[in-house]
Amino acid sequence: MISFARGAPAPECLDAELLADCARSAVLGDPGVLAYGPGGGYERLRAWLGARHGVDAARVVVTNGGLQGFVFYAEELLAERPGRVLVEAPTYDRPLKILARLGVEVVPVAMDAEGLDPAALEHELAAGESSFLYTIPTFQNPSGRTLSTERRRLVVELARAHGVPVLEDDPYGLVRYEGEPPPSLHELEGGDLVTYASSFSKTVAPGVRVGWFVAPAGLAARIEARAVSNYISPPFLTQATVFELIDRGAFEPNLERIRGLLKTRRDAMVAALEHELAGVATWSEPEGGYFLWVDLPADAGDLLARAEAAGVTFVKGSDFFPDGSGRRSARLAFSYASPSEIGSGVSTLASLLRV
Ligand SMILES: Cc1ncc(COP(=O)(O)O)c(C=O)c1O
Repeated sequence: MISFARGAPAPECLDAELLADCARSAVLGDPGVLAYGPGGGYERLRAWLGARHGVDAARVVVTNGGLQGFVFYAEELLAERPGRVLVEAPTYDRPLKILARLGVEVVPVAMDAEGLDPAALEHELAAGESSFLYTIPTFQNPSGRTLSTERRRLVVELARAHGVPVLEDDPYGLVRYEGEPPPSLHELEGGDLVTYASSFSKTVAPGVRVGWFVAPAGLAARIEARAVSNYISPPFLTQATVFELIDRGAFEPNLERIRGLLKTRRDAMVAALEHELAGVATWSEPEGGYFLWVDLPADAGDLLARAEAAGVTFVKGSDFFPDGSGRRSARLAFSYASPSEIGSGVSTLASLLRV
């Protein structure tokens, strides 16, 4: 099966030798990593992240991947200020499932090629009490779209005007193949309302399960308390391994290598789509990240059934909307398959769309 469904890095992105060596140095260099410790994460990594974001280390909580942090953030916010949760339409499907489990009303806010639509956001902010806005402004999962700088300023202004907290989820921002990065919402706003979340899943390895949150001091302390009550301490061994990678200067070169491997895949997918589906479908062309979004001339669920029978899989668009819209769209991940698999997988999809 050729997978355009897996939002995971290609196996070549993961440098086992490097990580094994870092893990060995980490555990031998600091036996404390084998003990219980602070729920907010490995202190040296926390301090490094704090310095990178220009905040006190106490405002950084290192979580077991970004998704675990999302659960803690959502639980905290919903307890503190009950209300609807605003999400981009489409948005990452796992938070939608978590929010459904938490029994909260989820309100989809329209997007276009430039990302979240500020007018639609303003409308929803005025329509009722919102607990928080969840947004993925850069190389969004699932659409691959990036919020323009102008719109980032508008989103921050709207959040301020309505006093609504924002969770900016940014695991893909550093996985940029070209172009200039826009400022984060967190930088633009100053960090009072915007909590910034990211992860080493896409820049080191998903298996290390190291994500981080930069939150206002009180909220960070409450998220840390939730972490302690859920798992006592996070896995310091993997957090210290990531820190060792950074400390020995290997993070940037490893990231550059990953960028090269993934850019080749992004290019292969865009070229294959242009070759096979120009005039038939339309798609986003992200400057980074893992995904592109395709608007199809057919029902994506029907196409998926036939594609899987022919050995290709992807995720249908409706999985990323709380109301099941997006039926004629699909998320194609270019991160996992090899460039040649990407070519033949797109060719298979195109042949199924032509009949
Ligand atoms: C937007 C977004 N947020 C969070 C995550 C979860 O990442 P982690 O592996 O850090 O839990 C993902 C993973 O695909 C993602 O796409």
